[in-house]
Amino acid sequence: MDTSQKSLRTAGKGLYQPLYDLGRKDIVAIERIHHIELWVGNAKQAAYYYRQAYGFELLAYAGPETGVRDRASYMLQSGDVRLVLTTALGPDSPISAHHLEHGDGVSVVTYQVPNARSAFEILVERGAEPEMDPTTFKDENGEVEIAGIKAFGDTSYRLVSMEKPHRVFLPGYETRQESPIIGVTNNLTFIDHMVTNVEDGRMEHWVDWYKKVFGFSVLAHFDENDISTEYSSLRSKVMTNNDGLVKIPINEPAEGKMKSQIQEYIDYYRSPGVQHIALATDDIIGSVAQMRQCGVEFLNTPDSYYKNLEDRIGKIDEDIDALRRLGILVDRDDKGYLLQVFTQPVEDRPTMFFEIIQRKGSLSFGKGNFKALFESLEEEQRSRGNL
Ligand code: FE2
Repeated sequence: MDTSQKSLRTAGKGLYQPLYDLGRKDIVAIERIHHIELWVGNAKQAAYYYRQAYGFELLAYAGPETGVRDRASYMLQSGDVRLVLTTALGPDSPISAHHLEHGDGVSVVTYQVPNARSAFEILVERGAEPEMDPTTFKDENGEVEIAGIKAFGDTSYRLVSMEKPHRVFLPGYETRQESPIIGVTNNLTFIDHMVTNVEDGRMEHWVDWYKKVFGFSVLAHFDENDISTEYSSLRSKVMTNNDGLVKIPINEPAEGKMKSQIQEYIDYYRSPGVQHIALATDDIIGSVAQMRQCGVEFLNTPDSYYKNLEDRIGKIDEDIDALRRLGILVDRDDKGYLLQVFTQPVEDRPTMFFEIIQRKGSLSFGKGNFKALFESLEEEQRSRGNL
C-alpha cells in the first residue's frame, strides 16, 4: 500500500455501522471517534508495544523533528481504531503532571464533528466547561479546527472538524509507515465502547452530565444485584448517542465485603478516568489467538465456565474448545450473542485495560459474564494485596 492510500485511511467516516436508532436527534452530530490520546511515560516504547502486541500500524508522528517542541506523539491505527501515544519532553508540561498523577492513561477523546466551533459553543451553552477554545491548526497537509471541553477527572473531549481530510493525520504530524511488527494486523475494526470509572456516589452526576451536555440516553443499567460477587460490587449505567457510535458505560463502586475493583482503579488512577476501551473485531478467535501469541496478557477464565456453555447461552457458530483455549466469554440477549475477552491492565498501576469484542446481533455488554469476569478480576486484585 503506498503512502497516499494509507494517509487516506485516516480520512473517511469510519467503519462503524449504526447499531440502532433510538429516534432521537443528537445535540452534536458525532461523525466518528476520531482518535483516543493516551499520555504515557515513554511513547516510543508504548508505540512498540501496541505494534508488537496489538498489531497496530504506526502511521504518523509529531515531535521535535516535525516542529513540535514539547512532546512526541505516535499515531497508531488498526481498522478505524486510532490511538495517539504522547509523552512530554520535559518536566514543565501538563503531560508530565498528568503522568505523575495518573500514570499512563487516556487524556483526550476526540470526536469528529461537522463544525468544531459551533459544536463547542452548543456544548458550553449546555453546561460543559471549556478546556480549549476553538483553534485553527494548519500545515502544508491541511487545516483543522479543534476545541475541547472538560469531562470526568483530568480527561477531556475534543472536537475536530475539517473541510478536507488532512493528508497525514493532524497538523504537526508527518507520515510514518511502520507495519505491525508481527507483519499482520489484528482485524480490529472500531471502538465499540469506552468505560469510565467514577467515585462512589458520582455515577448519577455523570449520567445527568451526558444527558444535559450531549443529549445522550441511558441504554442499560446494572446494579449490585447484577454485578456482585462475594467480595465486591459496582453500579453501572450505559450512556449512548442515538445510533450507538458512542457508548459509555459509567461505573461507580458499591458497598461489598471488600474493596470494589472500581475503587482499586480510583485509588491508583487517583481520579475518575477511562477504565477500558472495547475494540470490535470481525474475528475474535483470530484476533485473540494472535494477540496471545504476541504476549498480550488476558484475564483467565476458569475451565468450568465452558461446561454446558451452549446449554446456558444456546447454539453458537464458534468452536467452544477454541473459545476455552483463548478464554473468550459468550453472552446472549434477545437480539443475538456477543463474544468478549478482557486484557490485564496495560501499565503497572492496575488501571486501564482493553476488551476485545465481537457482536453477533447482541447489543448488550455481557451481563451474564459479569460474575465470572469479576471473580477473575478479584483473583488479580487479591494477588496485588488490594482485596
Ligand atoms: Fe466493556
